[in-house]
Amino acid sequence: MISPYRILERKRAGGSLRDAEVRAVVAGAADGSWTDGQLAAFLMAAAIRGLDAEETQSLTLAMLESGEQWDLAADYPTLTDKHSTGGVGDKVSLVLAPLLAACDVPVAMLTGRALGHTGGTADKLEVVPGLDLRLDRARCLDLLEDVGMAIGIATSAIAPADGRLYQLRDQTATVSSLPLITASILSKKLATGAAALVFDVKTGNGAILADKSESKALAELLVETCVSLGRRAGALITDMSQPLGRWVGHAAELKETLECLAGDGPDDLMEVVYALALELGALLQVGLDTIQLDAAISSGLARERFERWAVLQGGDREWLAAPDLSLGKHEYALEAQVGGVLSRVETKTVGRLLGEAAVSSSGPSRQVDPAVALHYGVRLGDRVGAGEDIGRLYLRRADERLADELRRCFVVDEEGISPPLIVERLAAG
Ligand code: URA
Repeated sequence: MISPYRILERKRAGGSLRDAEVRAVVAGAADGSWTDGQLAAFLMAAAIRGLDAEETQSLTLAMLESGEQWDLAADYPTLTDKHSTGGVGDKVSLVLAPLLAACDVPVAMLTGRALGHTGGTADKLEVVPGLDLRLDRARCLDLLEDVGMAIGIATSAIAPADGRLYQLRDQTATVSSLPLITASILSKKLATGAAALVFDVKTGNGAILADKSESKALAELLVETCVSLGRRAGALITDMSQPLGRWVGHAAELKETLECLAGDGPDDLMEVVYALALELGALLQVGLDTIQLDAAISSGLARERFERWAVLQGGDREWLAAPDLSLGKHEYALEAQVGGVLSRVETKTVGRLLGEAAVSSSGPSRQVDPAVALHYGVRLGDRVGAGEDIGRLYLRRADERLADELRRCFVVDEEGISPPLIVERLAAG
């Protein structure tokens, strides 16, 4: 056994760890032979000293191998997945998965719950009564066979070492380390065995990494690590300096998803969905184009895929035929206090406030109120008159103070610009 002390000493001094040493750390996390103190010391040393490409690759692979690997590409050689670093109003996965499935590009997504100020795909989908996001390999294969798509939540059987390491990162201020983020994301994403992955790395004040150069560094590391592990990968860096689409909130985002699949989605959201779909098509060389994507929507096939998939994963068929997606009865106008141009949205605060309003408790008894919603009708750079609505807030219980806090998140000034949505595309590996 390699001594934890020697590994920590080496990393603390800035040395590069060998594959066997990185594996010893991960084995120690998974089997409990490393204490929390030793693991926390490793995480801090890795966050300060950094991990090079080989160490990041070793860490990813060791974390991946700490749990189940489904190897679904053996049956589905063009299996795809997409990962977003998270944002406010980001319902891209909900639209993209059925759209790809309708174009005969199979998708298996392992997704997560809300993290910090960002909403979780799983929470939004669970607005559908009965929907069960627990998946195992056999169920995933059945869904791919029946409907060409599967969406599940990463359980403790997938990359269990990540569960312990993530908790300790949270306690030790090491969450923001790019190699640690990369290994954490990929150890779960690679578990299905997808042949091609596309990353939607958000940038701007509503992103986990607000700074563009940091977002780009993370995108590069994700793509390089995937490619070094034999997968095809590409990334888009997309703007998150305002909510994506017109709605934020679980029921409202599901409603917007269904509108997108019916051909009535907002331009910004559809631009990101199409760009990611085309990126995956290019990675797999399956000749996917805009005409095919348009046809999948206009024919109703993409919407039909979503409904069939949801029923197969336990969703209530009758509810899905006529979804009840009602919003909170208490409605507040979020008006511009002065006339001018919408110059800034405090996007992270918007996400945090809405998240806090929707989630009433944490842990196993965590309850999410799907009826909390924000309609965001104006975009950065748009002119607004004094007293004109920038958005509307919907709550189940009256809360004037929250409405006031949200009003202050939308800053109107003399000028402001409309930021480009697709900030950069990273060439696929
Ligand atoms: N999502 C993850 O799964 N891990 C991270 O470290 C960050 C986002």
